[in-house]
Amino acid sequence: MKNFRRKYYDAFSKYYDRFVALHSRDTQGGLRKFLSSKIPVKEGDSVLDMCTGTGILLLYLQQRVGPKGFVTGIDFSRGMLEVCKMKTRAYSNIEILESDVAYLPFKDNSFDAVTCSHAFYELKGETRERMLKETVRVLKPGKSFLMMEHDLPENPVIRTLLYIRLLSMGAKRALDTLKHEKETLENYFKFVEKLETRTGRSKVMVCRN
Ligand SMILES: C[S@@+](CC[C@H](N)C(=O)[O-])C[C@H]1O[C@@H](n2cnc3c(N)ncnc32)[C@H](O)[C@@H]1O
Repeated sequence: MKNFRRKYYDAFSKYYDRFVALHSRDTQGGLRKFLSSKIPVKEGDSVLDMCTGTGILLLYLQQRVGPKGFVTGIDFSRGMLEVCKMKTRAYSNIEILESDVAYLPFKDNSFDAVTCSHAFYELKGETRERMLKETVRVLKPGKSFLMMEHDLPENPVIRTLLYIRLLSMGAKRALDTLKHEKETLENYFKFVEKLETRTGRSKVMVCRN
């Protein structure tokens, strides 16, 4: 299944950014910019972006930590990372790595923040649990994990339409993840806070120990 997902993203990589702009109505990358603005980092810090995809978030993260900081993007799809590398090649302090987020090639306490945008709900049981465990391991003590994800709409009609859409896609697991993600995050972090975004379609979960 993981191989299927990886190949799917390899094939989808050329169209991904255009799809995001249409699907999330995020033509200017405003949602990822919002996420990066909420990360408690300072100049010179190091940030890891999990499931970085085409790296939409990486340039915003680079602006937050400045030229003395360091940003790492990790993903298992070579196709997505090819697009990502094109976008970030001008920056020597952005590193791109091909790896499964369930097995991070970093030492304990390596990062001042970890992010994950619109990917958590796609991760399956064991991978998701391992990814969270690894996130806690590589974060420096007291530092934050920020996750941006689709939100379940308040309006019952729109919420039902989203349920139908996800179920018709065979995405029951993704729906279950969205419904229970706060409880899942609280298994790994003492403090979990939800921030609303301007679109109302996505939210940011800020997690810290
Ligand atoms: C919907 S895209 C999100 C990309 C990006 N974070 C964004 O905000 O646009 C999901 C990404 O997660 C990656 N991914 C899914 N499972 C993964 C895993 N187990 N390890 C590493 N990357 C994974 C996919 O290759 C894909 O690039």
